[in-house]
Amino acid sequence: MVAVILSIMTLTIEAPAKINLHLQVGKLRSDGYHDLLSLMHLVDLSDRVSLRMEGKGGTVELEGNFDCRKEDNLLYKAASAYLQERQKRVPNASPAPGLTISCLKRIPAGGGLGGGSSDAAALLKLLDRFFGAFPQKGVLDEIALSLGSDVPFFLHTGAEIAQGRGEVLEPVEPLPAYPLVLVFPKWRISTPDAYASVDRLRREKADRPRSLSLEQLRESYSRPVAQWPFFNDFTSPVLLQFPESRNLLLGLQNQGALFSQMSGSGSTFFGLFDGEKTALRAFERLKSMGYRCHLGKMLARPYDPVYNGR
Ligand code: C5P
Repeated sequence: MVAVILSIMTLTIEAPAKINLHLQVGKLRSDGYHDLLSLMHLVDLSDRVSLRMEGKGGTVELEGNFDCRKEDNLLYKAASAYLQERQKRVPNASPAPGLTISCLKRIPAGGGLGGGSSDAAALLKLLDRFFGAFPQKGVLDEIALSLGSDVPFFLHTGAEIAQGRGEVLEPVEPLPAYPLVLVFPKWRISTPDAYASVDRLRREKADRPRSLSLEQLRESYSRPVAQWPFFNDFTSPVLLQFPESRNLLLGLQNQGALFSQMSGSGSTFFGLFDGEKTALRAFERLKSMGYRCHLGKMLARPYDPVYNGR
């Protein structure tokens, strides 16, 4: 009976973007990753991911308003990794039915907002809901980390401090729903290139990078937003490579942002505002400067999956 109901239902979830309120890049490790100290927070801009059981057993189909070529897509990788683990870890698992995954993309790719990672985590949640939880603990987190350093964050709460390569997570109290403006410049930045630029700049300048301790990060987060000492280590190389981004940061500051910064390894910039009117004014101003923008708010918690008929 359950199988019949599931086969005529679609399971859907909103996959929200994140911003990095703080992003400190540490040393390059022997495994090719850098140690991080980061504070990530969800925002209300989201993709929509749906899953339905359809087609021949064992097949995975992707559809949506993006390049759906399968093998290098994180949604496809997430589904494959999940099904493999299920086969391995669930005794007497019944053969998987065909899966069709749809994704409506609204989060710009290569924008430092974790769109692809959030979609992958959202799909893992849908699969978990469809198939039931793994008998072992922590499997979803392991699969998430195998897909990318940011993916585990999106399985959890709305605001977390991340360490290690991004997978050592500590929940912190989410912010109130501050009005927010996201600004999307035209340029795209590849994550590995961004890390390489940070290393190169440090070698060239031979100066010690700024740093906050974990304690300082926790303590600073409880201060008023306008007093945060947070920074993003990817900002300097981006300002060098794309000097126009300085205008954008200044634009947000001049429009009264309580706090403004670049997210992730770029290219999105964001500003937090104390009221909707100020945020709207900043949004209009940046749009008039020719930038694509999003006017929204901070998000306290991830969304839950919902069933809907086809
Ligand atoms: O984990 P993810 O697939 O997002 O990482 C992409 C690339 O970004 C890595 O191959 C690595 O070059 C870089 N990276 C890093 N340190 C991290 C996360 C990512 O150097 N903590």
